Amino acid sequence: MNTLKYIEENKDRFLNELFELLRQPSISANPKYKEDVLRTANIVKDNLEKIGIEKAQLYETKGYPIVYGEKIISNDLPTVLIYGHYDVQPPDPLDLWDSEPFNPEIRDGKIYARGACDDKGQFFMHVKAAEIMIATNTLPCNIKFMIEGEEEVGSENLEEFVINNKSLLSADVILISDTGIIANDTPSITTGLRGLSYVEVEVTGPNRDLHSGLYGGAVANPINILCKMIASLHDENKKITIPGFYDAVEELSEEERALMAKAPFSLEKYQEELQINDVYGEKSFSTMERNSIRPTLDVNGIWGGYIEEGAKTVIASKAYAKISMRLVPNQKSDEITKLFEKHFEAIAPKSVKVKITPHHGGEAYVSPTNDKGYIAASKAMEETFGKKPIPIRTGGSIPIVALFEKELGLKSILMGFGLDSDAIHSPNEHYGLFNFFKGIETIPLFFKHFSE
Ligand code: BES
Ligand code: MN
Ligand code: MN
Repeated sequence: MNTLKYIEENKDRFLNELFELLRQPSISANPKYKEDVLRTANIVKDNLEKIGIEKAQLYETKGYPIVYGEKIISNDLPTVLIYGHYDVQPPDPLDLWDSEPFNPEIRDGKIYARGACDDKGQFFMHVKAAEIMIATNTLPCNIKFMIEGEEEVGSENLEEFVINNKSLLSADVILISDTGIIANDTPSITTGLRGLSYVEVEVTGPNRDLHSGLYGGAVANPINILCKMIASLHDENKKITIPGFYDAVEELSEEERALMAKAPFSLEKYQEELQINDVYGEKSFSTMERNSIRPTLDVNGIWGGYIEEGAKTVIASKAYAKISMRLVPNQKSDEITKLFEKHFEAIAPKSVKVKITPHHGGEAYVSPTNDKGYIAASKAMEETFGKKPIPIRTGGSIPIVALFEKELGLKSILMGFGLDSDAIHSPNEHYGLFNFFKGIETIPLFFKHFSE
């Protein structure tokens, strides 16, 4: 029986099984959901067992467990290691959802739920593709699964697991579906991810909140100061002003940039989709370059002072912000964090105190387009989409991918099937049925070509 026929005959069950996963609020960021995250790990394990994956088990960590399983056919055959994550982002703000985030619903041919695309819907394609290959006796090589529960909070405990389990994880390639394609009629393979440095800053002025009339004008207002400091982190060309920030940045050759510019992109559609009248970013770079091969600095949240109903006249004692820096190849996350700290302290006026707390980070990643893994993915997608996929670099981060390369010596093939418009991390996250089933159809072909 071929893959398409198997999908056709089992597609309702595939969706029901995915829906059970999507009903679990496996929010790794919030300890309130601990039981739900753990239950989700067990459901993933059960799903692996059910399709004939052996040694399916949870590996405990200091945080959430890693679900592992394997099907080894022969030590003479290559091994594909599948990575994915069963945790999801918090669904907030809840009132912007048109349906419940953890009550999956199909509308317009799309599955709506938190995690539908990132990453439950995507890693589950691999589970179903494995089911098909095992059931139809067409699994051409060994397969291993490593599905973690802390990707959305920085994969901190996966690092130790990887370092301590190198032989368990020995493989020839890592295959990941946690990224996207350009469009449903324009397949692409991700060949680069950005790195990340993330800090939280606290600016303290006076020791207590003050009357803004009695003290205003005479004492530093930490919110005003924080805004000014943040504003100064970009210059008039939208370049980041932190000394040394660009020192290690990999500059692409004119040839590479020209190749990138060939990927289909409509500025008009982009603006229309986001309802903006203009784009914004670093001088001398295109929108596509700004969101993939260039580093960034963005405030992700900022707060302080009085934000309830009505007006309160107050100068707050403290102001806060969460700041992310997306990094490109050769920039080191730890070094960039240090440069930020040094600079942010240096630009603070004497009238305030600054405290900086670094969060999780990770390095950027690039993969070649001429190795066995990329070629297998390219052939597989070409067969199912009827078009050769375009290699693209994305602006997102999967910090653990660079670590896989460092610790396991393995390249990761980022063969994702999501769309930028799937609203991952946003309200109304969704994943197209087309994309879900196209993924299940494509994955066995990757295995076939990789084993050839
Ligand atoms: N799957 C995403 C990353 C992604 C999405 C890459 C789409 C390319 C295209 C992943 O789950 C994610 O959200 N990563 C975080 C980093 C993490 C440390 C929280 C990110 O990029 O913000
Ligand atoms: Mn993801
Ligand atoms: Mn994510």
